[in-house]
Amino acid sequence: MTSLLPATDAGIAEAADMLRGGLLVAFGTETVYGLGGRADRAETVARIYAAKQRPLHNPLICHYPQTSDTVADAELGPLAQSLAEAFWPGPLTLVLPRRDKARVAAGVAPAGTLAIRVPGPDTTRRLLTLVGVPVAAPSANRAGRISPTTAAHVLEGLDGRIDAVLDLGPCAVGLESTVIDLTRGAPRLLRPGGIEPARITALIGPLTEPGTDSGPLRAPGQLASHYAPVAPLRLEATRCDPAEALLAFGAVPGSPGAVYQLSAAGDLNQAASRLFDGLRWLDTAVAARGLRGIAAMSIPNQGIGEAINDRLRRAAQPRA
Ligand code: TXA
Ligand code: MG
Repeated sequence: MTSLLPATDAGIAEAADMLRGGLLVAFGTETVYGLGGRADRAETVARIYAAKQRPLHNPLICHYPQTSDTVADAELGPLAQSLAEAFWPGPLTLVLPRRDKARVAAGVAPAGTLAIRVPGPDTTRRLLTLVGVPVAAPSANRAGRISPTTAAHVLEGLDGRIDAVLDLGPCAVGLESTVIDLTRGAPRLLRPGGIEPARITALIGPLTEPGTDSGPLRAPGQLASHYAPVAPLRLEATRCDPAEALLAFGAVPGSPGAVYQLSAAGDLNQAASRLFDGLRWLDTAVAARGLRGIAAMSIPNQGIGEAINDRLRRAAQPRA
């Protein structure tokens, strides 16, 4: 049984007690819902991987209520400190050198590294304060599927596989955090996300992009088919016939069999916050109406549009 907890004082306290007791509780953040569990307990961490059916080599992000709580587990050098000051609490994850005495079970991340983040919403941080230990939380979806931006999305994929969901309403940003690796020389962008890379480069200089060196794969979840609906997805659609469903951004071309409008006014932030709900809704519409697949209109590659396009490209990859 997965219980649905409201964002009241009592609901938050119950979620915190469950997490402290080693149970799995999904909770809202500004980006997407996370599937939370104590990072310091090996058996809880193993349950996170099992609930998501996540490959064991894809590491987990630890969540903290404030920057000062992160220093017990990770080393924040000067670059990390200036990024933390500028963007935490907020949709940024830093991969940092892990301290020897970090309160983190071995299964959380590769030896010596730790991905950490301080999420934006006050309620999420109140929850984390009550838990009092680092909370590992990957996105609360089955591995490879679409990330959840509401409590209902979480239950669609994980009902019966986790202990509770704390309903903090729809996520404001709607795309996962930007992930920056600071463990290997020049800062590397592992995943574009809620904070646009230009704001980061303005502060710390250029970022190495993934795939531009021959080092080992550092964010495995980011390369294979990911964020994927069941229906086939095609990109850059300029027309659409009645046998297809359309993910629209602005004026709708043709007469699609179903339409989900990301933003009629062409607002990229609104589109980001609606993207995963749109893919889920269209997936259901394709199945219900017997359509051929989903066609997505093109999205300008500016600001958070870069992260939207990253997710759409991965969602359109051939499936394993
Ligand atoms: O916005 C977010 O980051 C959400 C919310 C819940 O905080 N979490 C999230 O977690 O998106 P997940 O597990 O779905 O994605 C984390 C990404 C994965 O691509 C993973 O490979 C990478 O971060 N990652 C985690 N720990 C890492 C580490 N130690 N080194 C390199 N990459 C790491
Ligand atoms: Mg994920």
